[in-house]
This record gives sequence, structure tokens and C-alpha cells, in this order.
Amino acid sequence: MNIKKIFLILMSLILMAGLIGCVENFTCGVLNCQIKSGNEISIFIATDPHHLSKKTYDDGKAFETFLTTGDGKLLHYSEEIIDAFIMDVKNKEPDIVIFPGDLTGNGEKESHLEFAEKLKTIRKLGTHVFVIPGNHDIENPWARNYTGDQLTKIDSITSEEFAEIYAPYGYKDALSRDPNSLSYLATPSEDIWLLMLDSAKYNRNKVRDGPEMGGALSSKTLNWVEQCGELAEENNAKLIAVMHHSLLDHSDLINEDYTIEDNDKAIKTLQDCGVEIVLTGHIHLQDIKSYNEDDKTIYDIATSCLIAYPNQYGSLRFVPNKGYYYRTNRVNMSSWAKENNISDKNLINLQEYSRVFFQKRSYDKYYDSLLEISKYSDTEMKAISETISILNLGYFGGFRNDSLHHIFNTEGFKLLQDSAPNSIRDYALSMFNDEKTDNNKLFIPINLNETESK
Ligand SMILES: [Fe+2]
Repeated sequence: MNIKKIFLILMSLILMAGLIGCVENFTCGVLNCQIKSGNEISIFIATDPHHLSKKTYDDGKAFETFLTTGDGKLLHYSEEIIDAFIMDVKNKEPDIVIFPGDLTGNGEKESHLEFAEKLKTIRKLGTHVFVIPGNHDIENPWARNYTGDQLTKIDSITSEEFAEIYAPYGYKDALSRDPNSLSYLATPSEDIWLLMLDSAKYNRNKVRDGPEMGGALSSKTLNWVEQCGELAEENNAKLIAVMHHSLLDHSDLINEDYTIEDNDKAIKTLQDCGVEIVLTGHIHLQDIKSYNEDDKTIYDIATSCLIAYPNQYGSLRFVPNKGYYYRTNRVNMSSWAKENNISDKNLINLQEYSRVFFQKRSYDKYYDSLLEISKYSDTEMKAISETISILNLGYFGGFRNDSLHHIFNTEGFKLLQDSAPNSIRDYALSMFNDEKTDNNKLFIPINLNETESK
């Protein structure tokens, strides 16, 4: 046997191994898209609903401390806010509702079971529902019962239980599931497929006795994504990706544990698959960023947390031959309260209650941080905390630059401007660096040349 023959046999074996590997790693079911090609598609994105079962807490000290030392989430009203959101779904009839992770407070099994029941209500309306996990949802050692002044550890769920509990909301009907994570490919329509990516890192939560906040997409998952991209291309479908963590940095300063590790690899893989839009949550900030390379632009649209001020969700409308229209809507709590004869004033005036709650949390957090810097007098610390808490209301709701200029004349802002650089000053000033003034709306035109050449 000559060298050429041996080389050819070796090459064939390598190719065969590659093919077998491909079959083993990529399995796909039968394609069944209910929304036919050429139709407009409306998608609601409600992220970080952090549902906390009322069975896990009472009105004692333990829960009050947990609530008032948090980040401004209205955990004690998660049920009501989610129900009001469902009423918006009923009234506005989107085709698809997506929840990009942090479905529960701290991964409590009870909260997951209740949340899945709520999703059943949405599905009964004829709406497709898709979920993926966030960093709070799986194997979370922080799941607790709050009774009086006591905290008791309670059950969270495993990744297998997540796929079981949420089987009707993506996992059961997935065209393909990634064998290495809880990622899957959903095909609700012929034109748009959803790449639901599990970026959470829960495998070591038990060992580290706390949930891992950062996220990643492993190289095995990215290989699976490539195969999804090929399948989508063969079927003339566009891929929209959804994941909990950020693909792109949403802040000049705070990105660690928010943006996925090695995001350059993920950006390249997604762009090679023709992904233009990634819908994310996690950072609780309403923010849109884009990245352009080789004339290809990819957008990371981070929708803010459903149960924190301004209690909004995203709405993405795909119009064939035109493009994608993104905007946010605030949950219509007052209508829900009226329809359900609710007498709780906090719920009837949710926007006001939520704004004050969020601002108070910001104020306390920055006052404590200023104490640590110990450079300012008490009056100065109060003025700066007040200014940052007002800035944060706008910033987290998606507003930057000009829309925050009203703050210029406050005492706190003047003090910050006159200060030597410090983390709080830099954070406040970074809100004026963003190129966008309003991150609550976006239009992405479709590349018609690309569509026609298909
Ligand atoms: Fe969250």
C-alpha cells in the first residue's frame, strides 16, 4: 500500500469520525412550525420575574430584612405583577412569550411549581411560551423559608427537574436540545426560530454554597449552536438568540459576572449563524448595545427586571420584508387591580410605590458605600445618595444622556463633579457616556438583498 493510499484511508476515517460525532451530538426532531411564513410575529419578553411563592415567607423580621436589603425587586408582589403581565398578554395577544431566566427568587422548588402553573394560563390563551434558566434558578443553596425572625434552608431544583417542570414551555417540543446544557432550539414559526441558550453555571453551586452569578456558553454548546445555524439556513429561517446573561457589555464599568465569559467566541459563532438579535436579562438594566464586524451587526437587547421599577417588559414585532420593532411596555397594574377588586393601594398605584421602593434601595446602598469611602460630610453623603438614586431611576429604566440632564443642578451632582475620581463618581458620570438617549425602542431593518438572494 503506498503512502497516498494510507493517507486517503486515514482521511476517510477522520471524516467518518467527524460525521459520527456530529450525529451523536446533534439530534433533531420533526419540524413543526405553527406560524406560517410571511406572517407578522409578535414576541413579549418578560425577564427576571423572580417569582417568590408566598408560602415561603410571612410578615416577620427575617423576610422584611431580606426584602429591604435587596436590589429594589418587589419580591412580595411577584405573584400580582406576573398576574397583571398575564392580563396584558390576554389583552394584546402576542404570538410568543419568552422568559429569559431568573424565573424564581432563589430557585425555590415551590416558586418554580407555582410559576409553571402561571405559564399554563398563558399557554391556554393560545400563546407559545419559552423559558430558559437564569443564575438564580437551579441548585440554588440560598433557597429559604422566612418565618418570623428565622431562615430555614429549603429545596431548590436540579437541572433535570427544570427541564421536567418546564417541559411544555420549550423542552418537550424543541427541534433540538443541546446535550451539554439546558439550551434548545424552538421553532414556533417558519420565518423565525429561537435559539434558547442556557448561559447559567449551576454545576458548582452546591460546592461553593451559593449561586454562581457569572455566565458562559461552553465550546460544546457553541458547536451545537453552529449546527442549529446550519439547520436554520437550510430551512430559510432566521435565528433570534435568547439567554440570561449579556452577550455584549452594557456598562463601561460593571461587566464582570454580567457579560458571559469569552464573549468574543460566542459573538463570532452567533454572527456566523446569522443571528442579529440576542434577547437578554440578568443585569436588570434596560439597555441596547450593538457590535459590528464585516458589515454584520449583532444587537444585545437587555430588558429590565419585570418586578423592579419601572416594571416593564419588551415587545418585539417582526414584520416580513421590513424588520424588527422593539419597544417596552409597562405592566398595566391599575387595570388588573380594578378587574380583580384589589384594595391594596401599593398595587393600585404600583408605578409610584415601585419607584419609591427602588429609589430608597439605591439611596441606602450608595449612602453605605459613601460611608466606606469616608471622604464626605453627612450632609454631602445625603445629597450625593439622593442624586444617584434619582439617576438610577432613569438609568435602569433605559434613559441616558440628555434625559438625565435635569440632575445637573442638584447639590449632589455638583459635589460629584468636583470630587477626585472614585467609583461612585465614575458610575454616575458613565450614565452620560451612552450614545443612545432612550433604550426603550429600536428598529432593525431587514437586509432585503440578503432575503431576496435566498
Ligand atoms: Fe435577576
